Amino acid sequence: MAKQIVLTGVTTSGTPHLGNYVGAIRPAIEASREDNTDAYFFLADYHALIKSQDAERMKQSRLEIAATWLACGLDTDKATFYRQSDIPEIAELNWLLTCVTAKGLMNRAHAYKGAVDENLANEQDPDFGITMGLFCYPVLMAADILAFNAHKVPVGRDQIQHIEMARDIAGRFNHLYGEHFVLPEAIVGEEGSILKGLDGRKMSKSYNNTIPLFDTEKKLQKGINKIKTNLLEPGEVKDPNDSSVFDIYKAFATPEQTAEMRNKFAQGIGWGDAKKELFALVNGQLSESREKYLELMANPAHVEEILQAGAEKARARARGLIADLRNAVGLVNFK
Ligand code: TRP
Repeated sequence: MAKQIVLTGVTTSGTPHLGNYVGAIRPAIEASREDNTDAYFFLADYHALIKSQDAERMKQSRLEIAATWLACGLDTDKATFYRQSDIPEIAELNWLLTCVTAKGLMNRAHAYKGAVDENLANEQDPDFGITMGLFCYPVLMAADILAFNAHKVPVGRDQIQHIEMARDIAGRFNHLYGEHFVLPEAIVGEEGSILKGLDGRKMSKSYNNTIPLFDTEKKLQKGINKIKTNLLEPGEVKDPNDSSVFDIYKAFATPEQTAEMRNKFAQGIGWGDAKKELFALVNGQLSESREKYLELMANPAHVEEILQAGAEKARARARGLIADLRNAVGLVNFK
């Protein structure tokens, strides 16, 4: 059987946290090790540009995210790991797709509609603060996916609509110019892959309830100590199903360890002790990667080399398809 192409992008805004690790990084790296998959992982820095005009922050986040994936064990000989902005073929495909994408389709995108609704609620002009980047976000995402004819795209629930739009756009192009594109499929992780944050809601940068992945050991401990708990005293039975402490523990533990902790909750383990155990478990699993992360952060030139090699590999794959597409739409040389 031909290998399945699995592709996903990470918007380079912010610093990776435990929720990113459990929900996206760890499962993606595991999947990339399977023999029947050909994995493409990239830093979606063009997408990040839509929301952030802070160049320093942008530089920092790209490096942090690249170093994180490498430190967590991504095998770049097997997977193709690159920056979106290093692949001119993506930008070129973006335009070819823009020219077949209905504006009406983009009008329906949740992110754009949400921004319009917010403007209306604030009695602003509906387009206040909305860039063409935001409006066309789904086309660029389709270009990311279709440039490599990916079969499967692991994403969060909020991104499903974008994958459906990529299918629509691919179908439209195929209809006009012949079968060039595979219709991609979204792969959405199970509920278990969503980690709870400090306040019990989903761990997310937008809720400001995250615990950073590779900060110092002290900061990790501090983060864990900040997890909100109820007022139950040691000795009182605690509900594991309603606790971020348990939720995060479970995400790092073996089934046996999880069962033991469940027992301890039933026996009324104190919150302080539960947090100590949580810290020991998480820190134990992250300390080696943290070392690697710090080394990589101190040696950006090395990270750059890896990404350049990844870009070469990615471009070699995209080039042939783009040449065919230029041909298909009539952008051909005269001799
Ligand atoms: N929009 C995605 C997110 O915010 C990131 C992304 C950009 C992406 N391009 C992609 C994900 C292509 C999958 C495939 O999570």
